[in-house]
Amino acid sequence: MKHIVFLTGAGMSAESGISTFRDSNGLWEQYDVREVASIEGWYRNPDLILKFYNDRRAQLREVEPNEGHKIIAALEKDLQVTVVTQNVDDLHERAGSSRVIHLHGELTKVCNENKTLIYDIGTGVINPGDKAEDGSRLRPFIVWFGETVPLIERAAEIVSTADIVVIIGTSMQVYPAAGLIHYAKGGIPVYLIDPNPVDSSSYLQVEIIREKAGKGMTILREKLYKNGRLF
Ligand code: APR
Repeated sequence: MKHIVFLTGAGMSAESGISTFRDSNGLWEQYDVREVASIEGWYRNPDLILKFYNDRRAQLREVEPNEGHKIIAALEKDLQVTVVTQNVDDLHERAGSSRVIHLHGELTKVCNENKTLIYDIGTGVINPGDKAEDGSRLRPFIVWFGETVPLIERAAEIVSTADIVVIIGTSMQVYPAAGLIHYAKGGIPVYLIDPNPVDSSSYLQVEIIREKAGKGMTILREKLYKNGRLF
């Protein structure tokens, strides 16, 4: 069975109503990323960070997977599908995707200070002073700027085994995630789905589908199943 790997970012969830980071009016225009998404920010003002992620976690109750998430999940009936996402929402899983690697953590999980104890709280909250079993402060299970990305080697290994790679909804500005495409085997089909221009000049061959995730995945599905066979 052919292996298709999706590299998704915030634009994947935009049509579900979740803000991206760097589009106009994106999250990083509303918040200082150093205050709410860095390890320094956690040491400086943990209560601000707890509120920021409590609010983003609560928003999960109001959003649903979009057509793009659903098409990706449905491909699992004919292909081996792995989603490597920078997103911390659970929309890929709620759409039915069964192999999802969250490079930057997961909103629905919290952990102890050194991330060795992980708890699933769904759309719940962490209050200031809440502690893990080891007595340390509970914190969001998120990879902040200034922290390592523990799953990056696993993700690179997955990309290196792909027969096709599809990049959706990421500005490709944050490393090491943005470097994953370079682990793809030479000569395989690579698609990039994004309604806006993304600098893909550093990749070898990439076919741009200049659409939002939902429409873009509809177009890609037609390409994949062209002539009744899978690419
Ligand atoms: N469909 C597809 N793509 C879209 C859509 C849409 N409906 N709307 C916007 N986009 C595209 C934008 O054109 C942009 O290329 O999604 C991309 C969003 O880019 P960013 O906001 O930079 O998000 P992302 O690349 O996921 O950010 C990476 O930065 O702050 C950190 O940890 C955070 O995981 C995040 C990382």
